[in-house]
Amino acid sequence: MNLYATVISGLEDIAEDEIARIVPEAAIVRRQRGRLYLDGGADLSRMLGLRSTMNIYAHVAERDHIPTDADGLDYIERWFAEIDLDEAIELHRAAHGWSGRDAPTFRVTAERFGRHAYQSPQIAAAAGAGIIDRYGWKASMKQYDVDVQVQVRDEHAEVSVRLSPESMGRRGRVAHGPASLNATIGYAMCIMAQPQAGEVFVDPMCGAGTVLLERAAFDTPAALVGGDRHAPALEWARANFTAAEIDAGLVHWDAARLPLGDATVDKLVCNMPWGRRIGSHRVNTALYRRFMDEVARVLKPSGRAVLLTLERRLMAGIVARHTELYIARTRAVAVGGLEPAIHIVRVRAR
Ligand SMILES: C[S@@+](CC[C@H](N)C(=O)[O-])C[C@H]1O[C@@H](n2cnc3c(N)ncnc32)[C@H](O)[C@@H]1O
Repeated sequence: MNLYATVISGLEDIAEDEIARIVPEAAIVRRQRGRLYLDGGADLSRMLGLRSTMNIYAHVAERDHIPTDADGLDYIERWFAEIDLDEAIELHRAAHGWSGRDAPTFRVTAERFGRHAYQSPQIAAAAGAGIIDRYGWKASMKQYDVDVQVQVRDEHAEVSVRLSPESMGRRGRVAHGPASLNATIGYAMCIMAQPQAGEVFVDPMCGAGTVLLERAAFDTPAALVGGDRHAPALEWARANFTAAEIDAGLVHWDAARLPLGDATVDKLVCNMPWGRRIGSHRVNTALYRRFMDEVARVLKPSGRAVLLTLERRLMAGIVARHTELYIARTRAVAVGGLEPAIHIVRVRAR
């Protein structure tokens, strides 16, 4: 069965590297923005352990020439009544089971791009009717075992079954903040920081601690320290570290005045306030300037800061004027309709 993985757009190469390491038998046969298609050789249990991917799907069927006029819905229903879901369902059952039932409950979710005489919920309803016709399974939007997805793009449609649990992006956390980071981005930021055993790894605005949770999952142990100015965030982080059984220091501090010695930090990795849910552009203008001075002070000469922000111009301007720092790389990522960037910032050779 062919599988595909969905990935945050902009992180596809990091996912490809991880797939090559963890699932080396799987060949990537097609690449799309935010999607990597794999041939049939991929081992599902190892695929489900990937940290860079959002979801894993069984790629069940695709078809061209879907009518875009009102006939399209009947066509989709008839097509779904013919689609063989058995192999995908067997993979799903082997990975997750269905609480003792013989037949799964299911839902269909639909996405649509282009001009059609029908909407996504109608596509989902037509597809669901086709599945009930063929298999007689019970549909339930809330309590479903199996999530069938259909994507209609102009006259082309693809059908898949989600094989991963729903929230890979929220993994590892029992407590979340209002701006908690997608865990797969946290993983990518740790990769961009080039994890080394024994390093001092600091998230100076750690929120619920996602970046530190991700760093703790590498097999190169580090001294982990997180801090935040917002006391409840430290409670969320503490709850997450306790649940994940990780050992990380947590300090109530202002990232603009870090209580850390000069040149003591190897990696400083942080999802900064974007000025939307947290802070504002005015607050950020002052904070970022003072914070980047602290980055220059606490980083070892060999160190690196990996900083995610939507304030790309502000960051670029501050670092361009900074005498001690430079941006070694900028990587744009797509998050919730926004395009923040991950910056690798390094210290200039003195
Ligand atoms: C985008 S959130 C980080 C979210 C975090 N990565 C997570 O997954 O939960 C930014 C964090 O910066 C903190 N923050 C804002 N200004 C700060 C400052 N001056 N010093 C320390 N923390 C600050 C906020 O309280 C917030 O928790």
